[in-house]
Amino acid sequence: MRCSRAAGYPILLALTAGLCRGQIREATLEELPERLRDAQWLAEIEQSTTRRVRDGEWDHVVYYALQSRRFTELPPVEPGESAWQWKKQGRLPDDAAARLHAFVAARADGPRHAAMRAMVWDEAQLKLEYARAMHFLYEKEWASREREGAARREYVAALYQRRGHSTDTDVTSGYGVHTGLEVLTALRPGTRIRRVLLVGPGLDWAPRMSLDEDTPPQSLQPYALADSLVRLGLAAADDLRVDCVDVNPRVVTYLNGFAGGARRLWLRETPGDSEWRHYFLALGKATGTRKGMEIAVPSHVAKGIGAWRMNVLTQRVTDGDYDLAVATNVLLYFNDRELGLALANIAHALRPGGHFLHNEPRPASEAWGRELGMPAVHARTVHFAAGGEFFDSVVLHELRK
Ligand SMILES: C[S@@+](CC[C@H](N)C(=O)[O-])C[C@H]1O[C@@H](n2cnc3c(N)ncnc32)[C@H](O)[C@@H]1O
Repeated sequence: MRCSRAAGYPILLALTAGLCRGQIREATLEELPERLRDAQWLAEIEQSTTRRVRDGEWDHVVYYALQSRRFTELPPVEPGESAWQWKKQGRLPDDAAARLHAFVAARADGPRHAAMRAMVWDEAQLKLEYARAMHFLYEKEWASREREGAARREYVAALYQRRGHSTDTDVTSGYGVHTGLEVLTALRPGTRIRRVLLVGPGLDWAPRMSLDEDTPPQSLQPYALADSLVRLGLAAADDLRVDCVDVNPRVVTYLNGFAGGARRLWLRETPGDSEWRHYFLALGKATGTRKGMEIAVPSHVAKGIGAWRMNVLTQRVTDGDYDLAVATNVLLYFNDRELGLALANIAHALRPGGHFLHNEPRPASEAWGRELGMPAVHARTVHFAAGGEFFDSVVLHELRK
């Protein structure tokens, strides 16, 4: 985001760049497509976003309390299984109750436990949040099985459009983005990327599955994205800015503290097929140094990555000069109408000819893309065997000049 007031005054620009970067404003009704101009609805989205961020934070606390080995010797309780027991027994199962109690009683140990323990004022509150979290998990993991095929997929998709905002993220999302960027290099040879808007980078905080406390909380996606851009010859490390926007302040705080800290990221050994290994083994080396599973990010790269709180449904950046926008595992949280808002705000951020990469290939994203002058120019499924069978999607839009 460039400071337009300083255009033409390089010294002033240098002095004020830090202040001006990340300018965010509310989207006005007039600049939205006509059928999205509804002030009351936008106000409701603000409220529901606040509730969803809150619920997402509490989901993480519950998952952590059920699984962490840091504060108790009690065996971990798998949240999905616990949801089943909760529903069948019609009450808090004993193993979950023991863990919630241990979580509250134990002395906080480590960054996750300390931050989450500070949110909980008593066990009764945690039990209420447990029940709320289990309700969603039961619907997703068990009630959905009463349907099959497309009906089941639609049922789960509708649940995601109402659930709390998880900040879950891991290394696999970078692979889909990398694949999309390979497509971009083939489709538009000579593309140069200097400014990237990354929507919803997330934070590996306390996932529902595979909680791993050997690595501290981290947000890998912005650095993996920068690394892919440089590795594929799309960007130069010393001339790349990745502006991250996220509705969760915890994500923003983490990212803005990264450059002033140890600037280390940690990968988990993730076996997979040869193409995955090719991606995974080189990850971090184009922009930084890699020793085994540890990536050291150089200062100049880290300083090119900043973060701001922004709700992509109701807000937008002031300058539309981005070459690329990326949003993975974010759009699935929005219904079809909300998707129109997100795409309108993202289209506004791009320069003419700029690209938007995401992994939500539903008809509404295609339709909104066309309506907003940012049609999808490529879409594909990415299959990779990384620690299991995974399918992801890549959709590439291009803002027409
Ligand atoms: C599931 S995480 C995905 C993280 C990462 N992009 C990935 O693919 O691994 C979704 C992220 O999007 C953010 N998010 C959700 N709704 C948002 C909104 N309306 N505006 C901006 N960020 C949002 C969440 O806070 C969270 O950090």
